[in-house]
Amino acid sequence: MEMVKAVGLKKYYVTDTYEVHALDGVTFSAEDGEFLAIVGTSGSGKTTLLNMLGGLDVPTEGGVWIRGNSLKDMEAEERTVFRRRNIGFVFQQYNLVPVLRVYENIVLPLRLDGAGIDGGLLDEVTSLLGIREQLDRLPNTLSGGQQQRVAIARSLLTKPAILLADEPTGSLDSVTSMEVAGLLRSCAERFHQTVIVVTHQEEVAQMADRVIRIEDGRICGHREDLDIDSGREG
Ligand SMILES: Nc1ncnc2c1ncn2[C@@H]1O[C@H](COP(=O)(O)OP(=O)(O)O)[C@@H](O)[C@H]1O
Ligand SMILES: [Mg+2]
Repeated sequence: MEMVKAVGLKKYYVTDTYEVHALDGVTFSAEDGEFLAIVGTSGSGKTTLLNMLGGLDVPTEGGVWIRGNSLKDMEAEERTVFRRRNIGFVFQQYNLVPVLRVYENIVLPLRLDGAGIDGGLLDEVTSLLGIREQLDRLPNTLSGGQQQRVAIARSLLTKPAILLADEPTGSLDSVTSMEVAGLLRSCAERFHQTVIVVTHQEEVAQMADRVIRIEDGRICGHREDLDIDSGREG
């Protein structure tokens, strides 16, 4: 099933003094269960693209469809609710609430939405991510890798159709990065999600089903002609 479709996506930032073409006509789609990596140099438009896919920002031209629903045809409030129910975000800096224990962090989005907690899913996700023993701990007593697993668990518990991750392993060492990338891949398979990960770590990109390379706001290559080293960020 086609989960995500972007068509002719453009995002221009225009002021009196400059005009930036952050995205300049991006078209692609992704299926459920697919684990996609997006690579490209700093400033190439990766974060802008994720924000458009997640409905956090509105494109200048073009559109995004999630499960056939056009994001730009929704009212702002409708889009907020749709996003909360269908799209999960994972960031480089885990964004956990420091005064809440792991369990409370994981169920926070559900509580904010007034939704019930699926205990079976909670068990499954925390087992898959290997954090069942840490549910009573505070985030700052965990390693970086463990904190990122908690952030992933939090994003999964709302059963999002797509999971968008912006440099999720950027703060982790390379061994832990591989583990976290492997877990994201397992999640895509297990929960039939589309997982889209922005990364500049070659080993993470190599675990993806497909790699999209973006340069100056345009897709300039897929896996076949990919040369990640030439676009590595500093
Ligand atoms: N709010 C904004 N206003 C003006 N320019 C922006 C804004 N956000 C991003 N840009 C520009 O758009 C381009 C793409 O940025 P970004 O998507 O953050 O790149 P990446 O995530 O690949 O590093 C950059 O040139 C950046 O400076
Ligand atoms: Mg970025």
